[in-house]
Amino acid sequence: MVRNLRSVVNEQVYTWTERVGSEKKERLLAGIRNTKSLSIVAQVAGEKGIVGQLSLSLPGDVRKVSHVRNLSILVVKGYRERGVGRALLQYAIDWARRKEGVEKIHLGVFSTNARAIGLYKAMGFEVEGVLRRQYLIRAAHVDEILMGLFVK
Ligand SMILES: CC(C)(COP(=O)(O)OP(=O)(O)OC[C@H]1O[C@@H](n2cnc3c(N)ncnc32)[C@H](O)[C@@H]1OP(=O)(O)O)[C@@H](O)C(=O)NCCC(=O)NCCS
Repeated sequence: MVRNLRSVVNEQVYTWTERVGSEKKERLLAGIRNTKSLSIVAQVAGEKGIVGQLSLSLPGDVRKVSHVRNLSILVVKGYRERGVGRALLQYAIDWARRKEGVEKIHLGVFSTNARAIGLYKAMGFEVEGVLRRQYLIRAAHVDEILMGLFVK
């Protein structure tokens, strides 16, 4: 999972993160162990290795946001636009619907990421806000689109 994350971060166009440090492994493991979070991976039948991963995690350790989960998703280069992202997200939405206390999935996505925005909209997410020119990526300003899905 760390290797996949690093590969997407190194593409430098999809995520806020610029560096995946050694502490990331522990954080991923903590997410896997936390029963309030969801952490899943995707494999292609007959192939070794993980080609995609998704997590739904608590935005913070306070009661005020205990009904919300932040979404993070990636599919590695070479496996995109084959339905892997949709399969991961469908599983996560079904989990959130069943999970007691979870009401909403939240995410932020770069305005330039048409594929991710297309997937989120196809799965029912709605735009809740725009942080204008929030990022400067390769000398171009990029907005952050905030999206949400109510699951109950
Ligand atoms: C964004 C991402 C998770 C989508 O997963 P994916 O496996 O490539 O997407 P899927 O093949 O499951 O596509 C599902 C839906 O997304 C939408 N979609 C896919 N490609 C699209 C494109 N190029 N433009 C617009 N919408 C697109 C469609 O609605 C599609 O459904 P359909 O095939 O029934 O029409 C994946 O491409 C990825 O990891 N990209 C790099 C990292 C990233 O952007 N992470 C998210 C950061 S917020």
